[in-house]
Amino acid sequence: MEFQEMKEYMIEQILNKQLIAATISQPRAKSNEVKRVKLKPLEIKNIYHIQIEFQYERILKHENIPLKDFAESLENLFDQFRQMHADFTTEKVQVQLSKKNKVMWKSEKMESAKIVNLSHNRKKNYLLDEDTAYPFLIRLGVQTAEGKVKKQKHDKFKQINRFVEFIDDALAHLPKDKPVRILDFGSGKSYLTFALYHYLKIEKGLDIRVTGLDLKKEVIEECAQIADDLGYDQLEFLVGDINDYNDESAVDMVVTLHACDVATDMALARAVKWGASVILSVPCCQHELNTQLNALGLDIMLKHGLIKERFAALATDSIRAEILNMVGYEAQLVEFIDLENTPKNILIRAYKTGKKPTSEQFESYKQFKQMLNAEPFLENELREYL
Ligand SMILES: C[S@@+](CC[C@H](N)C(=O)[O-])C[C@H]1O[C@@H](n2cnc3c(N)ncnc32)[C@H](O)[C@@H]1O
Repeated sequence: MEFQEMKEYMIEQILNKQLIAATISQPRAKSNEVKRVKLKPLEIKNIYHIQIEFQYERILKHENIPLKDFAESLENLFDQFRQMHADFTTEKVQVQLSKKNKVMWKSEKMESAKIVNLSHNRKKNYLLDEDTAYPFLIRLGVQTAEGKVKKQKHDKFKQINRFVEFIDDALAHLPKDKPVRILDFGSGKSYLTFALYHYLKIEKGLDIRVTGLDLKKEVIEECAQIADDLGYDQLEFLVGDINDYNDESAVDMVVTLHACDVATDMALARAVKWGASVILSVPCCQHELNTQLNALGLDIMLKHGLIKERFAALATDSIRAEILNMVGYEAQLVEFIDLENTPKNILIRAYKTGKKPTSEQFESYKQFKQMLNAEPFLENELREYL
């Protein structure tokens, strides 16, 4: 098949609304900041769109293109990338292009046609089903005794589901040859700790041991009681301070959700010291940098208290991600949940790679820090690794 013919075939399939999902990879130029692109169809206000997800080294960006304009976007993508895997309703296609656009083509017909899911709000894709009764959700008051999600708990249910999606994505990074040790720092009422346990242990049948740690004695006792009642024998809850928690020599996954201020940094530092393969952390309020910020060139922004606070929070998370990148992780800042669900919506997702940082990375980190007058707590905690 010729290059032009292949492009026309792909465009025709997509314009005929046959696309289920596609991944486009192998940038032609090493310098291309976008490393991979994912495509999926979705309906926005009854209009068929193709969503393009651009995966940069550390961030994801999305663009929704009306179908009628999509052909041009796909042409551009083929100018930049050399590989495409596409699932259409009736066939799977793999395309590999040589530097000179010679096409290697593989196609496999499906036995039965797949159905295109155009849902934008993920409702139909929830990993925890809205119409199934989950004992832990009933005990935590998210579902009624009959297993219906309570009206006022819909946001919580959505948040739990989103978190389970991230857990599911992280599965490939967890060890397979030994029990998986997981810690949830600042677990509070522990919605996510229970969800994580339910998903990995009960639905996926993994050999895991999970600990939820929090300062609040009463809350922890209640969670421990629920775990006991549900027979969750590999889930324990401990009262304690993240900073004093030294009971482990190795942990595979560390989770924090809205652990206040530098409690998030303490948890990240612990995770790095244990060599955790997976870190999932949604930070909460950040006060540290807000008090340090002093950047002459940013005066017209920082003189507004509200902007300063938001800027400090964003800069703190960028610094956290960069430090993780410099100590052997691939860290991304991704959207945890829609802004209307909670404003605390940035998730730091880091997978251990062991990769050594470059001197340019150190240099740009140093410059950023100096520009802001920042003295990050996390850097201090991880000084020996940097
Ligand atoms: C906003 S709550 C979030 C709770 C839970 N992760 C959730 O998302 O539902 C933050 C929790 O972090 C706990 N916390 C804050 N600092 C801590 C520390 N140094 N050690 C242990 N827990 C801490 C608080 O007690 C509180 O329960």
